[in-house]
Amino acid sequence: MNRENLREHKYIITDDPYFEGRVSDHFKKIRAKVITLTELVKIEEESQQNIAKVLFYLSHYELEKSHSSIHEFLKLHPSVMCSFIIRAPIDYTGFQALSIEEELFFTNVPDDAPVIFLIKAIVNAFTSLQMVVDKFELQKRINISTNEISKLTRIGISLANEKDFTKLLRDILNSAREISNSDSGSLYLVEKDEKGNPRNLRFKISALDLTSDEFILPINKKSIAGYVAFTGKQLNIPNVYELSGKEEYHFNNDFDKMSNYYSKSMLVVPMKDHHDEVVGVIQLINRKKNFHSKLSLEQMKIDHVLEYDKYAEELVMAVAGQAAVAIQNNNLVHEIETLFEGFVTASVSAIESRDPTTSGHSFRVAQYTVGLAESVNLIGVGKFKDVIFNPAQIKEIRYASLLHDFGKVGVREKVLVKAKKLEDYELDLIRWRFHFIVKDVEAKLAQKKIDYLKKHGNSGYSEFEQSIQLEYEMEKQKMEEIVRVISQSNEPTILEEGNSNFLEEISKLTYQTTEGGNISLLQPKEFSFLSIRKGSLDFEERREIESHVEHTFQFLSKIPWTRELKMVPAIAHGHHEKLNGGGYPRGLSAVEIPVQAKMMAIADIFDALTDKDRPYKKAVPLERAFDILKMEVRDQHIDGDLLDVFIENRVYDKVLQKRLEGQ
Ligand SMILES: [Fe+2]
Ligand SMILES: [Fe+2]
Repeated sequence: MNRENLREHKYIITDDPYFEGRVSDHFKKIRAKVITLTELVKIEEESQQNIAKVLFYLSHYELEKSHSSIHEFLKLHPSVMCSFIIRAPIDYTGFQALSIEEELFFTNVPDDAPVIFLIKAIVNAFTSLQMVVDKFELQKRINISTNEISKLTRIGISLANEKDFTKLLRDILNSAREISNSDSGSLYLVEKDEKGNPRNLRFKISALDLTSDEFILPINKKSIAGYVAFTGKQLNIPNVYELSGKEEYHFNNDFDKMSNYYSKSMLVVPMKDHHDEVVGVIQLINRKKNFHSKLSLEQMKIDHVLEYDKYAEELVMAVAGQAAVAIQNNNLVHEIETLFEGFVTASVSAIESRDPTTSGHSFRVAQYTVGLAESVNLIGVGKFKDVIFNPAQIKEIRYASLLHDFGKVGVREKVLVKAKKLEDYELDLIRWRFHFIVKDVEAKLAQKKIDYLKKHGNSGYSEFEQSIQLEYEMEKQKMEEIVRVISQSNEPTILEEGNSNFLEEISKLTYQTTEGGNISLLQPKEFSFLSIRKGSLDFEERREIESHVEHTFQFLSKIPWTRELKMVPAIAHGHHEKLNGGGYPRGLSAVEIPVQAKMMAIADIFDALTDKDRPYKKAVPLERAFDILKMEVRDQHIDGDLLDVFIENRVYDKVLQKRLEGQ
């Protein structure tokens, strides 16, 4: 009887010495331990922080004498739920004046009332106490559940937002440990082969600060983690050192030995994605009462380690489910990034293959611009003190730089690669024209010779032939000189004043052929190209080349960039703008040009200057390149402070070094 009552923690406290005798026939209905007031302290020892249901069955004399001490006791023991039945006449109301709260008084039962009334009153009083306890327990459970749910929600949100993969894994393990009060734990990920089939289990992290490297486990039933990954079922082991030996898996205590630890209870759960495939395993070790308490080796060996209950299993499974989704999301994001990176690289390579002389330009500009941005990040004083580019912004700069010249796809190839003012076939045409003229002159003079012979015979022919030959030589020389000047003017270097005037004269000349036709020595279009003062492009072609920035912007604007990369089109759009507003395509002023575009402009010019020799231009030595860039600063084209950072931090070093090694 007593044992059962103890478990239920039901007590009747009475000053009636005959109580047990009076109720003995009905005790089964009551099932409570009967004690006296002096034994009140026993309740605390016996109930051990569990809720105790206590019924005071006291005479009104006793109550009036002891109410203060009872009240004090109840105040100190909130886990005691009590009710009072007063041994007093039915009309006794004296309890109202006592310090005990009025609602605790259940009823009065006079001593001379039939015992059945007393029994009924006691049973009803306990039932009503039980209802209070149930309500209390339910509220407690609701509070715990609410707390756990909000904890799980918090874990879900934080896992979903974590982008750093290593930190994500650590967060998963810590969350699972915290929600299950686990002292330690490890996390494993499933690795797949090329065909997407699970290959092995890779140990990623441990809650113990082990310096051990990652290692792999086969996915089979031999190890505990391998078993869980293989079967997809969780394992809840009360004590790993007390396995029966009949299990298919074995506990490997190398970890314990290596880290001076003692594994006892273990909860090992699979992380499954939405296809129900295992992506990893969480292994939790040694459940304890309080997550924040630290256990010594001795405490682990004795009774400070608890077994994992069903509720802990459910909570950890919930975390594992969220973790699997977070891992999969992270993998997907990583795959998308790799895919996009591959696409960008392929696009850049495609565009650069149209003009092999500038090959590698976009990649180098990206390296220079990112290098400059990282150098700016390190400056703690002056103008750039507060300019910090976060990793996402660095990525934004990199994509903008890689794709800054992508719009060249919209520029005709003959303009893009044009090295001289006239194309080769055009110059050939001019050469053939003059070759024809010389031949025609030759024919004309031969006709003159025939006409002479017919008319005068041999007389004086020798002198006549000499003068004809002289005329031919002079004419030939003249034509050769014209071709020489044309060839010289065709180069993209600055056009000499003398040549310019000479070309103008030639353009006005015509030649009459033996057939009577008139040939212009230089076509208006040829004259126009050859008269370009500097470079190889005329106004229209230059505009076509410059249009690449607008094409780049249009192209990049069509890509649905993420929020973090949304500036990519705007940065690329500004790479040919100048601080004084003289740049293109929009002629932005200094304040309107994004600082990232200002950095890219420096990188772009620096690479154009220092890149290896091109057919129409020699590579410029480093010092000369800096001088030219400083001139650009003086002309208010590029930002002088950024150029200083670029030069002082030797941002270019790595790229140039790599190129030297490649040669
Ligand atoms: Fe450009
Ligand atoms: Fe460029």
